[in-house]
Amino acid sequence: MTEYLFYCRSGYEPDLLAELDDKLALRGHCGFANFQKDSAVLRYQLVSESSNTIRQRNSMIALSDLVFARQKCLVLLDVSFSDLTDRVFEILSALSTIDLQQIVFGDIRVEHADTESGKEMAKFCKKFTVPLRNALRAKNLLFKQPDKRAPYLHLFFESGEKCLLAISFAKDRSEDLLGVKRLKFPQDAPSRSTLKLEEAIQSFCTRAQQSMLFVNGMSAVDLGACPGGWTYQLVSRGIRTEAIDNGAMDEKLMQTGLVDYHSVDGFSYRPQQGHVDWLVCDMIEKPDRVALLMQTWLQNAWASAAIFNLKLPMKKRYKTLAPLMEQFHQLHQKESPAYITAKHLYHNRDEVTVMIIKNSQMLREFSN
Ligand SMILES: C[S@@+](CC[C@H](N)C(=O)[O-])C[C@H]1O[C@@H](n2cnc3c(N)ncnc32)[C@H](O)[C@@H]1O
Repeated sequence: MTEYLFYCRSGYEPDLLAELDDKLALRGHCGFANFQKDSAVLRYQLVSESSNTIRQRNSMIALSDLVFARQKCLVLLDVSFSDLTDRVFEILSALSTIDLQQIVFGDIRVEHADTESGKEMAKFCKKFTVPLRNALRAKNLLFKQPDKRAPYLHLFFESGEKCLLAISFAKDRSEDLLGVKRLKFPQDAPSRSTLKLEEAIQSFCTRAQQSMLFVNGMSAVDLGACPGGWTYQLVSRGIRTEAIDNGAMDEKLMQTGLVDYHSVDGFSYRPQQGHVDWLVCDMIEKPDRVALLMQTWLQNAWASAAIFNLKLPMKKRYKTLAPLMEQFHQLHQKESPAYITAKHLYHNRDEVTVMIIKNSQMLREFSN
C-alpha cells in the first residue's frame, strides 16, 4: 500500500486534494484522500498497489511538484499507544514490524498539525524528541549525527494516544519542522510583506544558488512596491531597484541610493534601461492579469527572471491556479527553456508565489 502524508495550511486541504488528483492522474495514478476540514493534514492513498521499495513508492510525486503541500512523507504505520507511560518502547516495537530495507534514519521530526488544537501537542512533541532519538540510536536506526542526505523518520502526533510513523527523503522534503519556514522579521524592514519574498528566495533557491542569482550590482523592478518590504530584500542584497507604486516608499530605503521610485501604473511601466535581472511583483490584482503581465515581461526579455504573487479566490484556488501555471509552462521551449516553480508559502495568505527563470546563464544554476 502506498500512502502519503502531507501538511498544508489549515483550510487548504481541498485545494491540495484537487492538485494531487490532477497531478497524479497525469502520472497514471489515482487514489483517494482522508482528511478533516481545517486539519492542515491530508493522507492520500494510491489505489494502484505496488510491491516496490520504500524509496520507489515515495517517488510517485515530488514535493516540489505540489504548490499547496508544505511537507510530504510516505506513511509507514499507524500507532495507537496501549501504554502511555512508555511510548518510546511502543514506537520501537512498531518499527520492528516494518521492513525498513536497511534504512538508517538521518534525523527525526516529531510533529503535530499546524492548527490551534495541534499546537497543544507542541510541548509534548519537543520533550519527546530527545528520548526517542537516544532510543533509536541505541538500536542503530538513527545515525549518531544528523545526516541531511539520509531519510528522516517523522512521527505525526494527532493526540497523545495516537501517532503516525512516516518517512521522508532528501531533496524531496522540507528540512523545516512541520514544513514551516520561520523567519525573523528584520527590524528595519518597512513591512511584514518582506518575509514573503525572503521565504520565496530561501525556499526556491539553495544557498549556493542564492549567492549566484541575487548578486550585488544586479538590477530589478518591483511592481506594487510600497511601502518597500520586497524592495528591502533586493536592496539588502545590493540590487538596484526601480520601485513602482502610487503609494509612499519608506524613507530609509530611498536614502540607500539604490532605489529609483516611479509613481506610475505597474501594468504600463517598462524598465528604464530596457532590461533588468529580476522582476518582482506583489500587486493586489486579478491573478490572470498579473500572470499575463509576467509572461509579457519574460517573453520580451525585459527581465531575466521573475518572482511574483498570484492572489487566489476563497474557493477553488487550485482550479484558478492550474490554467495560469499551464500558461507559464508555455514559456518553456526546447530552444529557450524556463525553470518554473510555485508554492503556497508559510508567510502567504490567499496567494501563491511563483518563480520563473528564463535567462540561460541563471538557468544553469538549476540544471543539476
Ligand atoms: C501588498 S502591497 C505590496 C507590499 C510590498 N510588496 C511590500 O513588501 O511592502 C500591494 C501594493 O500594490 C500597489 N498596486 C496595486 N495596483 C497597482 C498598480 N496597478 N500599479 C502600481 N502599484 C499597484 C498598491 O498601491 C500596494 O502598495
